[in-house]
Order: sequence, then structure tokens, then C-alpha cells
Amino acid sequence: MSAPRVRLAPVRDEARGILARLGVAQTAFAADGLAARSPITGELIAHVAKTTHDQTGAAVGRAAQAFVAWREVPAPRRGEFVRLLGEELRTAKADLGRLVTLETGKILSEGLGEVQEMIDICDFAVGLSRQLYGRTIATERPEHRMMETWHPLGVCGVISAFNFPVAVWAWNAALALVCGDPVVWKPSDKTPLTAIATQAIVARAMRRFGDAPAGLSEVLIGGRDVGEMLVDDSRVAIVSATGSTAMGRAVGPRLAGRFARAILELGGNNAAIVAPSADLDLALRAIAFAAMGTAGQRCTTLRRLFVADAIYQPFLARLSQVYASVKVGDPRDPDTLVGPLIDGAAFESMQRALSEARSAGGNIKGGERAEGSDDAYYVRPALCEMPEQGGPVLRETFAPILYVMRYSELDEAIRLHNAVGAGLSSSVFTLDLREAERFLSATGSDCGIANVNIGPSGAEIGGAFGGEKETGGGREAGSDSWKAYMRRATNTISYGNELPLAQGVRFDI
Ligand code: UN1
Repeated sequence: MSAPRVRLAPVRDEARGILARLGVAQTAFAADGLAARSPITGELIAHVAKTTHDQTGAAVGRAAQAFVAWREVPAPRRGEFVRLLGEELRTAKADLGRLVTLETGKILSEGLGEVQEMIDICDFAVGLSRQLYGRTIATERPEHRMMETWHPLGVCGVISAFNFPVAVWAWNAALALVCGDPVVWKPSDKTPLTAIATQAIVARAMRRFGDAPAGLSEVLIGGRDVGEMLVDDSRVAIVSATGSTAMGRAVGPRLAGRFARAILELGGNNAAIVAPSADLDLALRAIAFAAMGTAGQRCTTLRRLFVADAIYQPFLARLSQVYASVKVGDPRDPDTLVGPLIDGAAFESMQRALSEARSAGGNIKGGERAEGSDDAYYVRPALCEMPEQGGPVLRETFAPILYVMRYSELDEAIRLHNAVGAGLSSSVFTLDLREAERFLSATGSDCGIANVNIGPSGAEIGGAFGGEKETGGGREAGSDSWKAYMRRATNTISYGNELPLAQGVRFDI
């Protein structure tokens, strides 16, 4: 049976209209530039001018220059700039959110949600700009005072992925800017349009602010070579890189080699456990969003599901129904829940994973290509019942595949849950207090994010975001993640006439 045809309206003129409204100068386009395509139809929207190596060096130079001025601007005044940026984002939300949808293929409510996440982190950072607190520390020496001061660190490089083409920049940029660090951004070469649109929004906030130094926010359009220049430039003090674990393995050692700071936000292979006592209606809804939302292309996407023996059959029957009924199609259509994959390579890697799963004894429903344009890749989300955890289940495939496995004892489920390379996000569905607390305890989930009765994706900006093991260990967004963008100085001050040495050491001359 052939899948229903996906109805697709053209994208190019709409995208170009939005870019014009957002104030993107025509100079951003160049016939020999980077091809920006929409996964909705596969059509070319524009060629975006690439940043040359000379221009990359000059951009980092301008940012380094901006640092000299920006570090002296009082933090609450830096916060004022981020407040204006948040205002401009509010004004631009409908257009930028739509452009996110056109360029990534995520459904419109997620495109708008992504811009909301940018606004939220701006609000958070504005408050933070008056709260970059250091501690006062008890000293062992009389007539002394000890404290710590947080200073701006330097230029912050941001490398972001296609799936959150603007929010990831914002988590880093809003914090870095209030912390006193100019930002140089290398977006994914699959999503240059949302990046240049965001830069036009930043430019408006800069004009309103008045005396922001040029070079406070730079964008580099290009591929891996441009990213490598950013990573290797000694004028860049910190790089926050989001992408695959393979990317992190390349970037991490290069940064370590020159003692630069790294925030690595790499792959996830997120799991949930559905226990016998779970509220199954709620679990079903949470799992559907976490596994199929963003067409399975979030780093927090739910990829592995452990279901207790006692409820396995009835729960799987309901989940299969949801998988069969979910609407795949044009992400601009309000009824669509699953938009296209980003490109043909994503489709190929999904098909490879499914055929490996089949060879490993998996029972697969869905996964086939839905008809659309030849250059657009719509797939039915795949539900794979697996006899055990192995093969493709152990790695992240950026596509809507949910591997389902049975378990009988919670300890066994937790052991399997933790037995993968990545350690980003995780959930347990249970109404049993002991099970919930066990999952959150030191012997429970080993991830950076561990949830109870909500799915692993869709985190708010207020918490620190990131994960352990092959996810890279970095933290962005809320809580005290800001500390990574600053350098800490410990200060000890004597206000006495004596010079008592610490640890009782005597050195009388
Ligand atoms: C990502 O996929 O790179 O928690 C980030 C979430 C989002 C962020 C995902 N707030 O799903």
C-alpha cells in the first residue's frame, strides 16, 4: 500500500518575504554561496554568501576588540542590551518562528516555541546580569577578608546544529553577553538563513542600545573549515559546540590542546521506563511527543523505551495505534505532528538503522517513506520492538525510531538504561514513590537530565541543560551555567599590620 501523498506548497517566496521583513540585506545572498534548502519541499531558497578565511579571522578580531570594551561595561548595562534583544525577538517571533519551520521542517508550534526559548533565556539573562554573585569566604587569618570575583572571560565561539538553529545560539549568547563575552557564531551549514535573520535582529538591538561595540555578535557562514578556524583561534576563550559525538571527539581535543574552555553538547540516546503503576494515558502522550516530535531530530528525543512485563501488551497496542494515526506532512499545516527529515542523508541513516534492527530480530511498524516531492524526505515514525538492547539501539540515529524493550525488575531496567554511551536525558513513568526516587538517586539514571512522569525532551531554560559521558559534560542555559562564561578570581585582602601566613607557616626575616 502506498503512503498518502503529502500536500506541499512552495517555500521560496515565503522565506524570502520573511527575510526581507526581518531586515536581511540582499548582500547576504551570493550566487556562489552556500545553498539554503527547505526540507519541506527540498527546494532551494537562496545561496547565502560564505564567510572566507580572511573574513573569519577579521570577525574574530572584531570580537576580540569588542571584548576590550564590553568587559568594562557594567553587567546590568550589558543586561540592558540583552533586554532589548529580547524585545526585538518578541516583535520578530512570528516571522522568525515561521522561518525556523521553513528551514528545518519542524512544525510551526515548535518553530515558534524555539523563538520563545530565545526570549525566555534573554529574560533569564537580564535578571542574571544583576546576580553574577561571588562568595565571601571565611578566612583562617585574622584581619583578612577572602572573596571571589567573576570577570568576563573573552570571546565565546558558538557552534550550533540544524535542529535548534537559533535557540542554542541564544542559550549561549544571552549568557555570554551579560557575562561580558562577545559571541562568534558558526551555525550549521544546513540552516544559514535563520542565523542571518537572527543577526539582523541583533543588529536592531545594537542600534537601539547605542554604544555597543562592533564585533559584539558575529556570524560565520560556511562548513567545517570555518568551524575549525574558530576552534583553533587562540583569541577565542571558550567554544560551546552542539552536534554529534563524532563532532565533539574532533572539537574537544583541539580545544584542550590550547587550554580553551569547552562546553560540549553532543549526542543523546535517551530512554524512558514505564513501570506497572504508571499513569498510562499520561505516559502515552508524553512518549508520543518525546519520540515523534521534531521528527525524532532533537538531541533529547526519546529513542529507547523499557516497558514493564505486566503492562507490556496493552500499552504497546495503544502506542502502536498512536504511531499509525499520527499525521505526517507539511509542517505548516496545523494538523501535522511530524514534519520531514532534514535531508536524504538523514533518511538513509534511518533506513540503515531499521534494516539493522530487522536483522537483530526487531519487529518494526512504520519507517517507510511517505510520498512527497522527490527532494523531500517524509517518513512514518517507526516503532521497533526489540528482543534485547543491542546493534542500532546502542547509538543515536537522528530520526523518529523508538526501540521498545520489556523488563521485569526496575534494577534491570536501570542497568540497561545506563548501558549506552550517551548520557543526556531520561524519564521514568511511575506513581510509586520508591521507584521514582530510585531512578533519581545516585544509583539511578546516569544522565544530566532525569525526569519523573514527563518525557525526556522539551526542557525549560531555567535548568542547566546538558549531559554526561559521550554527551560531553557541558551545561548551558539556566541554574549556574553562566559560570562557564566567566573567569573566577579568588581575592584575599589584609587590613591588619601583621602578616600571618596560612597553615601556620613562619617566615620571619
Ligand atoms: C537539542 O536538541 O539540541 O529539551 C536541544 C529540549 C530542548 C532542547 C533540545 N529544549 O528538547
